[in-house]
Amino acid sequence: MPSELNVTLIQLIKSLSMGMDMISTAVSNHHMRVGYLSARIAHKLNASAEVQRDLLVSGLIHDAGALSLKSRLDALQFEADGIVHSLAGYKLVRPYPKLKMVANYILHHHTSFTDISESIETIPIESNILNLADRIDVLIKRDQPFSTQIESILTAIIKHSGTFFNPKYVEAFRALATDNEFIDKAENPIDHLYTLAPERLENEILLHEELLEYTKLFSQVIDFRSRFTATHSRGVAATAAALAKLMNFSAQDQDLMLIAGNLHDLGKLAVPDHIIEKSGPLNDSEWKTMKEHPGHCQRILAGIPALSKVSKWACNHHERIDGQGYPLQISGNQISEGCQILAVADIFTAITEDRPYRKGMTFERAQGVFIDISGSALDSYITDIVITNFDHLNEVRILAQKEAEKDFYNFHSSD
Ligand SMILES: [Fe+2]
Ligand SMILES: [Fe+2]
Ligand SMILES: [Fe+2]
Repeated sequence: MPSELNVTLIQLIKSLSMGMDMISTAVSNHHMRVGYLSARIAHKLNASAEVQRDLLVSGLIHDAGALSLKSRLDALQFEADGIVHSLAGYKLVRPYPKLKMVANYILHHHTSFTDISESIETIPIESNILNLADRIDVLIKRDQPFSTQIESILTAIIKHSGTFFNPKYVEAFRALATDNEFIDKAENPIDHLYTLAPERLENEILLHEELLEYTKLFSQVIDFRSRFTATHSRGVAATAAALAKLMNFSAQDQDLMLIAGNLHDLGKLAVPDHIIEKSGPLNDSEWKTMKEHPGHCQRILAGIPALSKVSKWACNHHERIDGQGYPLQISGNQISEGCQILAVADIFTAITEDRPYRKGMTFERAQGVFIDISGSALDSYITDIVITNFDHLNEVRILAQKEAEKDFYNFHSSD
Protein backbone atom coordinates (compact mmCIF):
# COMPACT_ATOMS: atom_id res chain seq x y z
CA MET A 1 0.00 0.00 0.00
CA PRO A 2 1.60 3.32 -1.02
CA SER A 3 2.42 5.69 1.84
CA GLU A 4 0.51 8.90 2.56
CA LEU A 5 1.74 12.02 0.83
CA ASN A 6 1.03 14.71 3.39
CA VAL A 7 -1.41 16.59 1.25
CA THR A 8 -4.14 18.35 3.20
CA LEU A 9 -7.67 18.87 2.01
CA ILE A 10 -7.27 22.64 2.36
CA GLN A 11 -4.20 22.64 0.09
CA LEU A 12 -6.18 20.89 -2.63
CA ILE A 13 -9.24 23.08 -2.25
CA LYS A 14 -7.14 26.25 -2.19
CA SER A 15 -5.47 25.23 -5.47
CA LEU A 16 -8.79 24.63 -7.16
CA SER A 17 -10.01 27.96 -5.84
CA MET A 18 -6.92 29.74 -7.18
CA GLY A 19 -7.45 28.20 -10.61
CA MET A 20 -11.10 29.24 -10.71
CA ASP A 21 -10.23 32.81 -9.71
CA MET A 22 -7.74 33.11 -12.61
CA ILE A 23 -10.35 33.13 -15.35
CA SER A 24 -10.83 36.90 -15.34
CA THR A 25 -9.68 39.92 -13.38
CA ALA A 26 -13.39 40.61 -12.80
CA VAL A 27 -13.49 37.61 -10.45
CA SER A 28 -10.00 38.01 -8.98
CA ASN A 29 -9.81 36.59 -5.48
CA HIS A 30 -13.59 36.05 -5.38
CA HIS A 31 -13.49 32.49 -4.07
CA MET A 32 -10.57 33.20 -1.74
CA ARG A 33 -12.28 36.20 -0.21
CA VAL A 34 -15.67 34.54 0.13
CA GLY A 35 -13.92 31.69 1.98
CA TYR A 36 -12.19 34.19 4.24
CA LEU A 37 -15.30 36.28 4.91
CA SER A 38 -17.49 33.23 5.60
CA ALA A 39 -15.04 31.80 8.11
CA ARG A 40 -14.55 35.16 9.84
CA ILE A 41 -18.29 35.81 10.16
CA ALA A 42 -18.82 32.25 11.47
CA HIS A 43 -16.01 32.78 13.98
CA LYS A 44 -17.53 36.07 15.13
CA LEU A 45 -20.78 34.20 15.74
CA ASN A 46 -18.93 31.58 17.84
CA ALA A 47 -19.90 28.85 15.41
CA SER A 48 -18.31 25.44 16.02
CA ALA A 49 -14.89 24.66 14.51
CA GLU A 50 -16.65 22.26 12.16
CA VAL A 51 -19.04 24.91 10.84
CA GLN A 52 -16.13 27.35 10.39
CA ARG A 53 -14.21 24.71 8.46
CA ASP A 54 -17.17 23.81 6.26
CA LEU A 55 -17.91 27.45 5.51
CA LEU A 56 -14.30 28.24 4.66
CA VAL A 57 -14.11 25.29 2.26
CA SER A 58 -17.54 26.16 0.80
CA GLY A 59 -16.47 29.75 0.16
CA LEU A 60 -13.34 28.59 -1.65
CA ILE A 61 -15.29 26.54 -4.18
CA HIS A 62 -18.88 27.85 -3.96
CA ASP A 63 -19.16 28.81 -7.65
CA ALA A 64 -17.51 25.61 -8.93
CA GLY A 65 -20.75 24.89 -10.80
CA ALA A 66 -20.50 28.15 -12.78
CA LEU A 67 -18.26 26.50 -15.33
CA SER A 68 -18.09 29.08 -18.10
CA LEU A 69 -16.77 32.62 -17.81
CA LYS A 70 -20.26 33.90 -18.61
CA SER A 71 -21.81 31.96 -15.74
CA ARG A 72 -18.96 33.06 -13.44
CA LEU A 73 -19.68 36.68 -14.32
CA ASP A 74 -23.45 36.14 -14.00
CA ALA A 75 -22.84 34.71 -10.53
CA LEU A 76 -21.35 38.06 -9.56
CA GLN A 77 -24.52 40.05 -10.23
CA PHE A 78 -25.97 41.16 -6.92
CA GLU A 79 -29.41 39.74 -7.54
CA ALA A 80 -28.32 36.89 -9.76
CA ASP A 81 -30.61 33.92 -9.94
CA GLY A 82 -28.08 31.45 -8.66
CA ILE A 83 -30.19 28.29 -8.75
CA VAL A 84 -28.50 26.76 -11.78
CA HIS A 85 -24.88 27.13 -10.71
CA SER A 86 -25.68 26.36 -7.06
CA LEU A 87 -27.24 23.04 -8.06
CA ALA A 88 -24.39 22.30 -10.48
CA GLY A 89 -21.80 23.00 -7.76
CA TYR A 90 -23.70 20.79 -5.33
CA LYS A 91 -23.68 17.92 -7.82
CA LEU A 92 -19.94 18.24 -8.40
CA VAL A 93 -19.10 18.24 -4.70
CA ARG A 94 -21.64 15.84 -3.19
CA PRO A 95 -19.80 12.56 -3.99
CA TYR A 96 -16.99 13.45 -1.56
CA PRO A 97 -17.64 12.38 2.05
CA LYS A 98 -15.45 15.11 3.57
CA LEU A 99 -17.46 17.72 1.66
CA LYS A 100 -20.95 16.54 2.60
CA MET A 101 -22.01 19.71 4.43
CA VAL A 102 -20.00 21.84 2.01
CA ALA A 103 -22.20 20.49 -0.82
CA ASN A 104 -25.34 21.49 1.11
CA TYR A 105 -24.03 24.96 1.83
CA ILE A 106 -23.16 25.40 -1.86
CA LEU A 107 -26.63 24.25 -2.89
CA HIS A 108 -28.14 27.07 -0.83
CA HIS A 109 -25.57 29.81 -1.23
CA HIS A 110 -28.12 31.96 -3.07
CA THR A 111 -31.14 31.03 -0.93
CA SER A 112 -32.59 34.00 0.96
CA PHE A 113 -33.07 34.13 4.72
CA THR A 114 -36.84 34.32 4.13
CA ASP A 115 -36.81 31.09 2.11
CA ILE A 116 -34.57 29.34 4.62
CA SER A 117 -36.89 30.36 7.47
CA GLU A 118 -39.75 28.58 5.70
CA SER A 119 -37.76 25.35 5.23
CA ILE A 120 -35.66 25.31 8.36
CA GLU A 121 -35.76 21.50 8.67
CA THR A 122 -34.20 20.91 5.28
CA ILE A 123 -31.91 23.87 4.60
CA PRO A 124 -28.83 24.41 6.80
CA ILE A 125 -29.19 27.90 8.22
CA GLU A 126 -25.45 28.63 8.02
CA SER A 127 -25.64 28.55 4.21
CA ASN A 128 -26.88 32.12 4.64
CA ILE A 129 -23.43 33.11 6.00
CA LEU A 130 -22.00 31.96 2.67
CA ASN A 131 -24.66 33.95 0.85
CA LEU A 132 -23.80 37.07 2.87
CA ALA A 133 -20.04 36.65 2.34
CA ASP A 134 -20.59 36.15 -1.39
CA ARG A 135 -22.68 39.30 -1.69
CA ILE A 136 -20.17 41.36 0.34
CA ASP A 137 -17.39 40.37 -2.05
CA VAL A 138 -19.54 41.08 -5.10
CA LEU A 139 -19.97 44.65 -3.85
CA ILE A 140 -16.21 45.24 -3.58
CA LYS A 141 -14.89 47.37 -6.44
CA ARG A 142 -11.66 45.69 -7.55
CA ASP A 143 -9.85 48.98 -8.25
CA GLN A 144 -10.24 50.46 -4.75
CA PRO A 145 -9.10 49.31 -1.30
CA PHE A 146 -11.69 47.41 0.74
CA SER A 147 -11.12 49.77 3.69
CA THR A 148 -12.51 52.75 1.73
CA GLN A 149 -15.64 50.87 0.68
CA ILE A 150 -16.62 48.98 3.76
CA GLU A 151 -19.10 51.54 5.03
CA SER A 152 -21.03 51.75 1.77
CA ILE A 153 -20.99 47.96 1.49
CA LEU A 154 -22.34 47.64 5.02
CA THR A 155 -25.13 50.11 4.20
CA ALA A 156 -26.07 48.10 1.10
CA ILE A 157 -26.09 44.84 3.04
CA ILE A 158 -28.18 46.26 5.92
CA LYS A 159 -30.92 47.08 3.41
CA HIS A 160 -31.40 43.35 2.91
CA SER A 161 -31.21 42.35 6.57
CA GLY A 162 -34.20 40.19 7.49
CA THR A 163 -35.00 39.38 3.84
CA PHE A 164 -31.91 38.13 1.98
CA PHE A 165 -29.78 37.84 5.09
CA ASN A 166 -30.21 36.65 8.66
CA PRO A 167 -30.11 39.83 10.84
CA LYS A 168 -27.75 38.06 13.30
CA TYR A 169 -25.24 37.47 10.53
CA VAL A 170 -25.52 41.07 9.34
CA GLU A 171 -24.81 42.18 12.92
CA ALA A 172 -21.68 40.02 13.02
CA PHE A 173 -20.50 41.67 9.80
CA ARG A 174 -21.30 45.11 11.24
CA ALA A 175 -19.04 44.35 14.22
CA LEU A 176 -16.23 43.09 11.95
CA ALA A 177 -16.52 46.18 9.76
CA THR A 178 -14.87 48.29 12.46
CA ASP A 179 -12.03 45.80 13.04
CA ASN A 180 -8.86 46.87 11.19
CA GLU A 181 -7.25 43.48 11.45
CA PHE A 182 -10.27 41.90 9.72
CA ILE A 183 -10.21 44.53 6.97
CA ASP A 184 -6.45 44.31 6.37
CA LYS A 185 -6.54 40.56 5.97
CA ALA A 186 -9.57 40.75 3.69
CA GLU A 187 -7.43 42.74 1.20
CA ASN A 188 -5.21 39.72 0.78
CA PRO A 189 -7.18 36.69 1.92
CA ILE A 190 -4.95 34.10 0.25
CA ASP A 191 -2.21 34.71 2.83
CA HIS A 192 -4.50 34.19 5.80
CA LEU A 193 -6.51 31.10 5.05
CA TYR A 194 -4.47 28.81 7.28
CA THR A 195 -5.17 30.96 10.31
CA LEU A 196 -8.87 30.21 9.90
CA ALA A 197 -10.51 27.14 11.43
CA PRO A 198 -7.00 25.89 12.28
CA GLU A 199 -7.96 23.06 14.62
CA ARG A 200 -9.59 21.11 11.86
CA LEU A 201 -7.92 22.11 8.63
CA GLU A 202 -4.21 21.97 9.38
CA ASN A 203 -4.37 18.33 10.36
CA GLU A 204 -6.76 17.16 7.72
CA ILE A 205 -4.30 15.09 5.70
CA LEU A 206 -5.91 13.05 2.94
CA LEU A 207 -5.42 9.31 2.85
CA HIS A 208 -3.80 8.01 -0.30
CA GLU A 209 -7.10 6.70 -1.71
CA GLU A 210 -8.86 9.95 -0.85
CA LEU A 211 -6.23 11.99 -2.65
CA LEU A 212 -6.78 9.97 -5.83
CA GLU A 213 -10.52 10.42 -5.48
CA TYR A 214 -10.51 14.13 -4.67
CA THR A 215 -8.38 15.06 -7.68
CA LYS A 216 -11.28 13.80 -9.84
CA LEU A 217 -13.15 16.90 -8.73
CA PHE A 218 -10.41 18.96 -10.40
CA SER A 219 -10.69 17.00 -13.63
CA GLN A 220 -14.44 17.64 -13.69
CA VAL A 221 -14.23 21.37 -13.05
CA ILE A 222 -11.60 21.55 -15.83
CA ASP A 223 -13.27 19.25 -18.36
CA PHE A 224 -17.00 19.83 -17.89
CA ARG A 225 -16.67 23.37 -19.25
CA SER A 226 -16.85 21.90 -22.72
CA ARG A 227 -18.74 18.82 -23.89
CA PHE A 228 -15.89 18.33 -26.39
CA THR A 229 -13.45 17.53 -23.62
CA ALA A 230 -15.79 16.34 -20.84
CA THR A 231 -13.82 13.14 -20.15
CA HIS A 232 -10.39 14.10 -21.47
CA SER A 233 -8.36 14.36 -18.24
CA ARG A 234 -9.63 11.05 -16.92
CA GLY A 235 -8.54 9.37 -20.18
CA VAL A 236 -5.11 11.00 -19.90
CA ALA A 237 -4.81 9.95 -16.24
CA ALA A 238 -5.61 6.28 -16.91
CA THR A 239 -3.37 6.11 -19.99
CA ALA A 240 -0.46 7.77 -18.15
CA ALA A 241 -0.77 5.39 -15.18
CA ALA A 242 -0.90 2.37 -17.52
CA LEU A 243 2.21 3.60 -19.33
CA ALA A 244 3.99 4.16 -16.03
CA LYS A 245 3.21 0.56 -15.12
CA LEU A 246 4.57 -0.70 -18.46
CA MET A 247 7.73 1.31 -17.76
CA ASN A 248 8.11 -0.22 -14.29
CA PHE A 249 7.36 2.87 -12.23
CA SER A 250 6.61 2.06 -8.59
CA ALA A 251 2.98 1.58 -7.46
CA GLN A 252 3.17 4.96 -5.70
CA ASP A 253 4.40 6.69 -8.85
CA GLN A 254 1.70 5.04 -10.94
CA ASP A 255 -0.83 6.64 -8.61
CA LEU A 256 0.97 9.98 -8.81
CA MET A 257 0.67 9.67 -12.57
CA LEU A 258 -3.11 9.30 -12.19
CA ILE A 259 -3.15 12.50 -10.14
CA ALA A 260 -0.93 14.27 -12.68
CA GLY A 261 -3.34 13.24 -15.44
CA ASN A 262 -6.31 14.63 -13.53
CA LEU A 263 -4.49 17.92 -12.95
CA HIS A 264 -2.52 18.38 -16.18
CA ASP A 265 -4.88 20.96 -17.69
CA LEU A 266 -5.56 22.78 -14.42
CA GLY A 267 -4.07 25.95 -15.94
CA LYS A 268 -6.79 25.87 -18.61
CA LEU A 269 -9.19 27.20 -15.99
CA ALA A 270 -7.53 30.55 -16.75
CA VAL A 271 -8.12 30.23 -20.51
CA PRO A 272 -11.40 31.82 -21.74
CA ASP A 273 -14.16 29.60 -23.13
CA HIS A 274 -14.08 31.00 -26.66
CA ILE A 275 -10.50 29.73 -27.00
CA ILE A 276 -11.19 26.36 -25.34
CA GLU A 277 -14.27 25.81 -27.52
CA LYS A 278 -12.91 27.14 -30.81
CA SER A 279 -13.08 24.43 -33.45
CA GLY A 280 -10.94 26.21 -36.05
CA PRO A 281 -7.26 27.17 -35.74
CA LEU A 282 -6.31 29.67 -33.02
CA ASN A 283 -4.99 33.09 -34.04
CA ASP A 284 -1.69 34.42 -32.64
CA SER A 285 -3.10 36.08 -29.56
CA GLU A 286 -5.34 33.07 -28.77
CA TRP A 287 -2.30 30.81 -29.05
CA LYS A 288 -0.35 33.07 -26.73
CA THR A 289 -3.10 32.74 -24.11
CA MET A 290 -3.40 28.99 -24.61
CA LYS A 291 0.34 28.51 -24.21
CA GLU A 292 0.18 30.07 -20.77
CA HIS A 293 -1.79 27.15 -19.29
CA PRO A 294 1.17 24.99 -18.22
CA GLY A 295 2.69 27.98 -16.40
CA HIS A 296 -0.58 28.60 -14.56
CA CYS A 297 -0.67 24.92 -13.63
CA GLN A 298 2.78 25.20 -12.11
CA ARG A 299 1.94 28.35 -10.12
CA ILE A 300 -1.24 26.78 -8.77
CA LEU A 301 0.43 23.53 -7.72
CA ALA A 302 3.33 25.35 -6.04
CA GLY A 303 0.99 25.58 -3.04
CA ILE A 304 1.18 21.81 -2.53
CA PRO A 305 4.84 20.96 -1.81
CA ALA A 306 4.08 17.24 -1.42
CA LEU A 307 2.92 17.16 -5.04
CA SER A 308 6.11 18.66 -6.52
CA LYS A 309 6.74 15.53 -8.60
CA VAL A 310 3.15 15.58 -9.85
CA SER A 311 3.51 19.26 -10.69
CA LYS A 312 6.64 18.60 -12.75
CA TRP A 313 4.98 15.81 -14.70
CA ALA A 314 1.62 17.54 -15.09
CA CYS A 315 2.84 21.02 -15.99
CA ASN A 316 5.49 20.06 -18.58
CA HIS A 317 3.19 18.09 -20.86
CA HIS A 318 3.69 20.44 -23.81
CA GLU A 319 7.49 20.38 -23.78
CA ARG A 320 9.25 18.43 -26.57
CA ILE A 321 12.63 16.73 -26.60
CA ASP A 322 13.68 18.84 -29.64
CA GLY A 323 13.11 22.01 -27.60
CA GLN A 324 10.16 23.16 -29.75
CA GLY A 325 7.55 22.78 -27.05
CA TYR A 326 6.23 25.32 -24.54
CA PRO A 327 6.38 27.21 -22.25
CA LEU A 328 9.98 26.53 -21.10
CA GLN A 329 11.32 25.05 -24.36
CA ILE A 330 13.48 22.66 -22.42
CA SER A 331 14.88 19.73 -24.40
CA GLY A 332 16.48 16.27 -24.34
CA ASN A 333 16.99 14.76 -20.94
CA GLN A 334 15.83 17.95 -19.23
CA ILE A 335 12.42 16.39 -19.87
CA SER A 336 12.08 13.45 -17.53
CA GLU A 337 10.44 10.13 -18.42
CA GLY A 338 7.49 11.12 -16.21
CA CYS A 339 6.92 14.33 -18.20
CA GLN A 340 7.10 12.39 -21.45
CA ILE A 341 4.59 9.83 -20.22
CA LEU A 342 2.14 12.61 -19.51
CA ALA A 343 2.83 14.20 -22.92
CA VAL A 344 2.28 10.86 -24.68
CA ALA A 345 -0.89 10.14 -22.71
CA ASP A 346 -2.25 13.58 -23.60
CA ILE A 347 -1.63 13.09 -27.33
CA PHE A 348 -2.80 9.46 -27.25
CA THR A 349 -6.09 10.42 -25.59
CA ALA A 350 -6.65 13.48 -27.78
CA ILE A 351 -6.27 11.58 -31.04
CA THR A 352 -8.08 8.36 -30.10
CA GLU A 353 -11.07 9.76 -28.19
CA ASP A 354 -14.31 10.43 -30.07
CA ARG A 355 -15.39 14.05 -29.99
CA PRO A 356 -18.86 15.32 -30.91
CA TYR A 357 -17.50 16.70 -34.20
CA ARG A 358 -15.23 13.79 -35.21
CA LYS A 359 -14.41 10.14 -34.57
CA GLY A 360 -11.20 9.08 -32.83
CA MET A 361 -8.34 7.84 -35.04
CA THR A 362 -7.90 4.19 -36.01
CA PHE A 363 -4.82 2.29 -34.86
CA GLU A 364 -3.11 2.78 -38.24
CA ARG A 365 -3.60 6.55 -38.26
CA ALA A 366 -2.63 6.95 -34.61
CA GLN A 367 0.44 4.81 -35.20
CA GLY A 368 1.36 7.19 -38.04
CA VAL A 369 1.14 10.14 -35.66
CA PHE A 370 3.46 8.50 -33.15
CA ILE A 371 5.93 7.49 -35.87
CA ASP A 372 5.95 11.12 -37.06
CA ILE A 373 6.71 12.62 -33.67
CA SER A 374 9.10 9.91 -32.55
CA GLY A 375 12.55 11.39 -31.96
CA SER A 376 11.33 14.99 -32.34
CA ALA A 377 8.54 15.61 -29.83
CA LEU A 378 9.05 12.43 -27.87
CA ASP A 379 11.69 9.85 -27.17
CA SER A 380 11.42 6.91 -29.60
CA TYR A 381 11.76 4.56 -26.62
CA ILE A 382 8.39 5.79 -25.33
CA THR A 383 6.57 5.98 -28.66
CA ASP A 384 7.68 2.37 -29.33
CA ILE A 385 6.05 1.28 -26.08
CA VAL A 386 2.84 3.06 -27.10
CA ILE A 387 2.77 1.44 -30.53
CA THR A 388 3.54 -2.05 -29.15
CA ASN A 389 0.87 -1.76 -26.44
CA PHE A 390 -1.67 0.27 -28.38
CA ASP A 391 -4.66 -2.05 -27.83
CA HIS A 392 -4.05 -2.38 -24.10
CA LEU A 393 -3.64 1.37 -23.62
CA ASN A 394 -6.71 2.06 -25.69
CA GLU A 395 -8.81 -0.36 -23.62
CA VAL A 396 -7.66 1.32 -20.40
CA ARG A 397 -8.45 4.75 -21.83
CA ILE A 398 -11.91 3.75 -23.10
CA LEU A 399 -12.85 2.22 -19.74
CA ALA A 400 -11.76 5.31 -17.79
CA GLN A 401 -13.55 7.67 -20.15
CA LYS A 402 -16.75 5.57 -19.98
CA GLU A 403 -16.71 5.96 -16.22
CA ALA A 404 -16.09 9.70 -16.55
CA GLU A 405 -18.93 9.92 -19.05
CA LYS A 406 -21.32 8.45 -16.49
CA ASP A 407 -20.25 11.18 -14.08
CA PHE A 408 -20.85 13.77 -16.80
CA TYR A 409 -24.40 12.45 -17.43
CA ASN A 410 -25.16 12.40 -13.72
CA PHE A 411 -23.93 15.98 -13.52
CA HIS A 412 -26.35 17.01 -16.27
CA SER A 413 -29.30 14.88 -15.14
CA SER A 414 -32.20 16.67 -13.53
CA ASP A 415 -32.24 14.88 -10.13
FE1 LIG B 1 -22.81 31.90 -6.62
FE1 LIG C 1 -19.89 33.78 -5.81
FE1 LIG D 1 -2.50 20.93 -22.09
